[in-house]
Amino acid sequence: MTSHEKVRVDLGDRSYDIEIGVALWNRLAEVLIGRFHPKRAIVVTDSNVGPLYEKSLQDAFQGSGVELSFHRMEAGEEHKNLETVHQLYDEILSRGCDRKTPVIAMGGGVPGDTGGFVAATLLRGVPYIQVPTSLLAMVDSSVGGKTGVDTPHGKNLIGAFYQPALVAVSIDTLETLPKREVCAGLAEVIKYGVIWDAALFAELESGIERLIAGDRDSLIQTVKRCCEIKAEVVSKDEFEGGLRAILNYGHTVGHAIEAATEYGEYLHGEGISVGMVVETEIASLLGRDLGDLKDRLINLFRRANLPVAPPEKVDPHRIWELMHSDKKTLGGDIRMVLPSKLGKVDLVPGITREVFEKAWRNCG
Ligand code: NAD
Ligand code: GLY
Repeated sequence: MTSHEKVRVDLGDRSYDIEIGVALWNRLAEVLIGRFHPKRAIVVTDSNVGPLYEKSLQDAFQGSGVELSFHRMEAGEEHKNLETVHQLYDEILSRGCDRKTPVIAMGGGVPGDTGGFVAATLLRGVPYIQVPTSLLAMVDSSVGGKTGVDTPHGKNLIGAFYQPALVAVSIDTLETLPKREVCAGLAEVIKYGVIWDAALFAELESGIERLIAGDRDSLIQTVKRCCEIKAEVVSKDEFEGGLRAILNYGHTVGHAIEAATEYGEYLHGEGISVGMVVETEIASLLGRDLGDLKDRLINLFRRANLPVAPPEKVDPHRIWELMHSDKKTLGGDIRMVLPSKLGKVDLVPGITREVFEKAWRNCG
């Protein structure tokens, strides 16, 4: 019997639960109906996830009197944009909705962020529920209320902070997620170990293969721990005034690698595994005594089939330029989240091009 866990995100009157278990479809319907008493609910999903899980959702609402309308966006980051949002507005408004019509955002981070943004802006805000089906979405994007879409100027540049009313994680949905995507999600899991929880890191070292193999109990406990950490960080700093930036460890370099390779080669988790290695090397070059942290990190990433070395064909000058559009960069000052020891990081200003390029070369 697998467990059913709950994590509370404490945000006053916008607090909510993250529920983690197996096939939580009926539970989701129960909460949604109990809280909002809707006549209709809108499901935003994507062209991969829809065919797999719309039926489970539909069955859970059978006989409830709630009519579900399904809206599938094309899968993939390239569709996380305002054009898709406009299409969704058109479809939803032409079918009719009111301020109590909830949105269910079901899928990975792409339909999660897009559906969340639609919910935040439709009629100036309708309630919504996150139903993450990728590991990355379960441990990161479905929690904390960052919603939004990309523009040709960069990723996630249009958006809103808008908290869901519930996050319902059915861990069994990972069974259809391609292994490469599972491993990319593990990069974010490993990140939580470095930024916050040395014990989580050690647990991953003792058996990351169990997660890759899909052991449900291990996955539930690991997703729970990551959600607890994210919930604590978000409760202390919902709008990223300071602390929340620590969730971006590895992302300054990682996002730039994704952009330099035109989002066609690296999954997000793969970009940030390289980013975490390079940023850890930067911390060492700045004089931080990190012991064997970098080696342990590399070892864990390798076991999860994640890349650890910067792409040879990418010029570090290009990465340096791209890092200037990172949201942490202030007035041209590149700031990075760097570890001071396993389980602890801080935001460091004044990273120089020389140090960055040396770290890049050292990791190659
Ligand atoms: P994604 O939504 O594109 O999902 C990855 C792939 O897996 C897609 O092809 C998707 O269709 C497929 N998929 C998802 N669940 C599946 C399942 N159970 N079975 C089969 N296929 C499945 O991307 P992602 O990796 O989940 O998330 C990345 C996105 O999340 C990025 O846009 C990123 O900016 C965003 N993000 C947001 C936050 C936040 O706080 N809002 C945090 C981190 C990342
Ligand atoms: N994924 C970063 C954040 O939610 O702040």
